[in-house]
Amino acid sequence: MRLDKYLAEMSYGTRNEVKKIIRSGSVTINGVQVLKPETRVDESSDIVYIGDERVSYSRYVYYMLNKPAGCVSAVKDNVHKTVIDLLKENIGNNTRNGIFPAGRLDIDTEGLVLLTNDGALAHMLLSPHRHVDKAYYVVADGIITENSIKQLTDGIDIGDGTLTLPAQAENIKLCRLWELDEDVQDIIKSKNNADISQTPADRIYTSMELVLHEGRYHQVKRMVQAAGSQVLYLKRIRIGPLWLDKELLPGECRELSEEETSRLLRP
Ligand code: URA
Repeated sequence: MRLDKYLAEMSYGTRNEVKKIIRSGSVTINGVQVLKPETRVDESSDIVYIGDERVSYSRYVYYMLNKPAGCVSAVKDNVHKTVIDLLKENIGNNTRNGIFPAGRLDIDTEGLVLLTNDGALAHMLLSPHRHVDKAYYVVADGIITENSIKQLTDGIDIGDGTLTLPAQAENIKLCRLWELDEDVQDIIKSKNNADISQTPADRIYTSMELVLHEGRYHQVKRMVQAAGSQVLYLKRIRIGPLWLDKELLPGECRELSEEETSRLLRP
């Protein structure tokens, strides 16, 4: 690849900034000074220095995004903001080519999306044979009874011919609107259903963490519907060993730490 692209991808500056650095004479490849931004560099074998600093090239990049509602889990979209648009807003336009979301969330679902250019990892996380678990925080309308929770966790018919795999439901709480986080309250109020006579504040909600071991289309919403309720708020909080960083606001993203990356890559 071109040296200026290589350095820009390694976050040493924009393409124009790294061109200036190269022309200033501070970059060497295998001990030889290079002045031309278009010089080719072999990222797997060449040793590149800027001044005294060795540039180490990592082929794959991993980011976690807290996806907000209204944004789509796609690389390109003509109407909506995409998760890749948000990545660029967070870290600038010098992102690697080929980054994509490893798995999809619905447009109105919030939470953890892994963005990477590592196709093998994405395949491993999404493969129906691997059963990598995904955990969701769910707020559903009304009271989900113990019986319905048992159906959700034992396996439930969501209309595609086979019962869902056993799942776990944790931290199940019945609550009023004011007991939920303020941003969740706002979303629920905005969904106020004209068919329902009670105002959102008068109603009772069920919140829980649902851990699934498969990823069918609209799975959480369909499971909750089959259990007689309706999802009003949905957020993914974990993929396998990777938890959504609670410090990330909706729309924010950050690179995974080395520790997070190695936990994720461990077979
Ligand atoms: N299940 C859903 O229904 N929607 C999502 O976005 C993710 C899981």
